[in-house]
Amino acid sequence: MPPSPVLRRLTGPPRLCVGLFAGSVLGFLPLAQVNLWVQAGGGSLPTAAQVLERYHGSPERTVLHRVLDPDLAPDDPSNMVQFLGGGAPTDPVTVANRGAILGWVEAGAPREGWPAVAPIFTGVETCGACHTPGGERSDLPFETYEQVLPLTVPGGGMALAPLLISAHNHLFGFSVLALLVGLGVAMSSAPRRLQYALVALSFLGAVVDIAAWFLTRAHGSPFHYLVMAGGGLFGSGIAAGAAVILLDTLRTRHRAAGNPA
Ligand code: HEC
Repeated sequence: MPPSPVLRRLTGPPRLCVGLFAGSVLGFLPLAQVNLWVQAGGGSLPTAAQVLERYHGSPERTVLHRVLDPDLAPDDPSNMVQFLGGGAPTDPVTVANRGAILGWVEAGAPREGWPAVAPIFTGVETCGACHTPGGERSDLPFETYEQVLPLTVPGGGMALAPLLISAHNHLFGFSVLALLVGLGVAMSSAPRRLQYALVALSFLGAVVDIAAWFLTRAHGSPFHYLVMAGGGLFGSGIAAGAAVILLDTLRTRHRAAGNPA
């Protein structure tokens, strides 16, 4: 008879620790979904079109359309609607200033129109609080027509620098989670084939997801579907792995003959 799996032989603190880890991973996955829902989807899960626009940009919308979208979540870091002078998206000042900027952009951002919108871009109560030399975003100043002009051109997905930082952070987090859950699965009573499948699924999902970010940024459709598929593969691999671990730690200890307790 093969020895009973390591997880089933654990007792006391190690068993509690592994069980709680699996439980918190299972709790964390729905939280990550809610976060995605609020941050990227503006109240629903991000649609394929939103994923495409986030990484690759859109042929219709400019960066200004994206950051001044009133449907952005208040805590979305790219939400600039709150700095239009009125605070809330429905405030009359916000609505008027947003209309002025996007109207100018949609008219092709003519140079003659710049003096009318410049006070919003440079005002210390509005964008000028940060997008100015010495401000929080001194790297993206809005002092002159020439500095703002690139933001009025449609297209343009995520900049490379934030994408690289995000990829670096996510790849590290994904690998550590896949490793910990994978080790647990490998010590569980799950059949060998299921163990291989779950371990492979988590690592494969992580790599596909992050590689697809770059492919989508560079080439657009259909790579954004790979972003969604990769995220789904990773999430399912981790969730199924954590469930396998949790079940093993919850089961009554296996006291077969010849298996010293
Ligand atoms: C309180 C400081 C602050 C104010 C005020 C502010 N911004 Fe920003 N802005 C930021 C920060 C921080 C970022 C980087 C956000 C991120 O990480 O996505 C940013 C990014 C941007 C970007 C680049 C977004 C991208 O994804 O490339 C644009 C465009 C922008 N802001 C426009 C504006 C406009 C227009 C206003 C005025 C209505 C404004 N900002 C007001 C801090 C500010």
